[in-house]
Amino acid sequence: MQDKISQIKKEYLEKIGKASSLKELDSLFLALFGKKGEIALLPKEFPKLSDTERRKIGPAFNAVKQELEKAIEKKREEVREESYKALENEKLTLQGVPLEARKGHLHLATQFKKEIIDLFNKLGFYQFDAPHVEWDKYNFEYLNIPKDHPSRDMWDTLYVDTSRLEVEPGQMLLRTHTSNFWPRLMEKGKAPIRAMSFDRCFRYEAIDARHSHTFNQFEVAVVGEKITMANLKFLSDYLLKAILGKEAKSRFRPKYYPFVEPGVGIDCLCVFCHGRGCKICSGTGWFEIAGAGMIHPNVFKSTDLDPKKYTGLAWGFGPDRMLMIKHEIEDIRYFLEGDLKFLQEY
Ligand code: PHE
Repeated sequence: MQDKISQIKKEYLEKIGKASSLKELDSLFLALFGKKGEIALLPKEFPKLSDTERRKIGPAFNAVKQELEKAIEKKREEVREESYKALENEKLTLQGVPLEARKGHLHLATQFKKEIIDLFNKLGFYQFDAPHVEWDKYNFEYLNIPKDHPSRDMWDTLYVDTSRLEVEPGQMLLRTHTSNFWPRLMEKGKAPIRAMSFDRCFRYEAIDARHSHTFNQFEVAVVGEKITMANLKFLSDYLLKAILGKEAKSRFRPKYYPFVEPGVGIDCLCVFCHGRGCKICSGTGWFEIAGAGMIHPNVFKSTDLDPKKYTGLAWGFGPDRMLMIKHEIEDIRYFLEGDLKFLQEY
């Protein structure tokens, strides 16, 4: 019996020493102390022993039993320690995203706004932003577009429901252009004026690659003595060349706008086809980028400014279109969508 106990002790201490996982130790524990384990079965043989033998074997058996239990427990600790260390040393294979790469930046349209505002600040223009939700009179009537006049068809918009206010229906609307800022300024009766606005406008539009219900306009208005079309031409070239480079080409085309006389459309040579005609410029070879002209005398009538003394120019252009030309962006809808690929590119 004594030999058997020594044999078990020797065999299992060796096995425990070699074990390298908790799973292995669990099965060694079962093999010793489980229902049919070698240690568990030994006491069944004790009755066969003589009294003196039993007195000797009893303590020896208990000592070996405890030693093996402790050895397993100690080894368990060691294996656990090892696995923690291994985890600590393990290299992460999934790379984190560097913080720098995830830093946000200003939207392309906002960057452009800053650039243009800076450009015109240098010429002494100051910013005057008029409301987006506007009264009919500033968006239309004071701009020589009377009620029910066919020219209103050029600017269909969204009207605000004013049924809960004491306001006649149809008087409050989303402004269709930034042109609402100059009658607001002019009605103050002070000249000279040299102001600009860069902001959102809205139209009831059929949406396509070049038209959106929400878009930006940049507009300048200059009122003073001896202001002429020559000033208009200068401002247009100043802007176009600063943005598209010295070789940028533009042309003035007579165009009707109720609030200017004469009125012009300003086109810029299509950068996609260089004038040959393509899908983007609807086959014309040119991009219309602005409307402009000399402020109509009727606009002066709704102000205290004397049209005999003062003249004025106004000029409104589509910065979104301009960005499309500059960066060869084919669809205006990108400006309003949160497409990350687009946003991160610029
Ligand atoms: N307000 C015009 C538009 O939105 C553009 C324009 C501005 C035309 C100033 C002439 C003078 O179409």
